[in-house]
Amino acid sequence: MKIAVLPGDGIGTEIVAEAVKVLNALELKFEMEEALVGGAAYDAHGHPLPESTLKLAKDSDAILFGAVGDWKYDKLDRPLRPEQAILGLRKNLGLFANFRPAICYEQLVSASSLKPELISGLDILIIRELTGDIYFGQPRGRRVATDGHFPGAEEAFDTMRYSRPEIERIAHVAFQAARKRSKKVTSVDKSNVLETFQFWKDVVTDVHKEYPDVALDHMYVDNAAMQLVKEPKKFDVVVTGNMFGDILSDEASMLTGSIGMLPSASLNSQSQGLYEPSHGSAPDIACKGIANPLATILSAAMMLRFSLNQAESADRIETAVRSVLSSGLRTVDIWSEGTQKVSTREMGEAVVKAITKKAKG
Ligand code: IPM
Ligand code: MG
Repeated sequence: MKIAVLPGDGIGTEIVAEAVKVLNALELKFEMEEALVGGAAYDAHGHPLPESTLKLAKDSDAILFGAVGDWKYDKLDRPLRPEQAILGLRKNLGLFANFRPAICYEQLVSASSLKPELISGLDILIIRELTGDIYFGQPRGRRVATDGHFPGAEEAFDTMRYSRPEIERIAHVAFQAARKRSKKVTSVDKSNVLETFQFWKDVVTDVHKEYPDVALDHMYVDNAAMQLVKEPKKFDVVVTGNMFGDILSDEASMLTGSIGMLPSASLNSQSQGLYEPSHGSAPDIACKGIANPLATILSAAMMLRFSLNQAESADRIETAVRSVLSSGLRTVDIWSEGTQKVSTREMGEAVVKAITKKAKG
């Protein structure tokens, strides 16, 4: 088994280092190889996704990814910006199915900005389509003004599009995931305004005919955004397009207390996967040792379960995270009165300790 380790930028390097320690503590037999990606790769090689990094990713069974991006690259041409690295990996590897579970750990109920009764016991799964939609639509661009420069451009555009097979395959993923849970799917669209999402709704409805045991409802994205904070436990599996999924998963993460807790898995049709926290590179808190490594550590657990067939080890990580939270350790994003504030490294090492103690005991 081979894992490509791509820490990226900002807090990416700090949180991935902790997840790697946790993986090593499991004493499984796998090879890990690290490579540069994002702004770090641009600085070293002049491209956010160098050929060598892409090749390593393609040749690996799974990819552990940190985060990419920094304001200092905002002036670069779009194809050279750090974000293109993650978009390029998703597209090149066909990682169309993005799982973003939002689970509220009992120990963190008070860390959320929502009332405890709204979120206690929350366990929803956002399934975001990841390789289509306005993110990858063509044509796109800015209409150049007569002086030939973008600063003088009068207009910019991106094209929203989905094909039937793209919607069908993500709908199948959602219905199959729902079968293993409470058999309920909410498909989120904007069919009242957008042709793309009327089509989305029609195709999801067609695919649903193959899953009579699963309940399906449709919701407009603005309403879904509102319902998610009003009555989050009403949802179980949510399936939606790339852009709505991006936004709703950030919103859902705050139901769990902190975006620093939300892992994700992005899979292709061969179950090869990229695993990353749902949060970004947070350059404002980089190098301070305060980032929460738990989303990345929990992403590593998803990697063991989904791509490496090591469900038992995944359970060990998740149990260790729960026990560390129960012992009261908190990074600053999930800290509340009466708990103990720890650094990124202390949090990672506490998880390692919980794993090895279990193994010995
Ligand atoms: C995410 C991120 C990315 C996205 C960015 C970094 C390109 O926000 O994974 O949610 O928009 O998909
Ligand atoms: Mg996002």
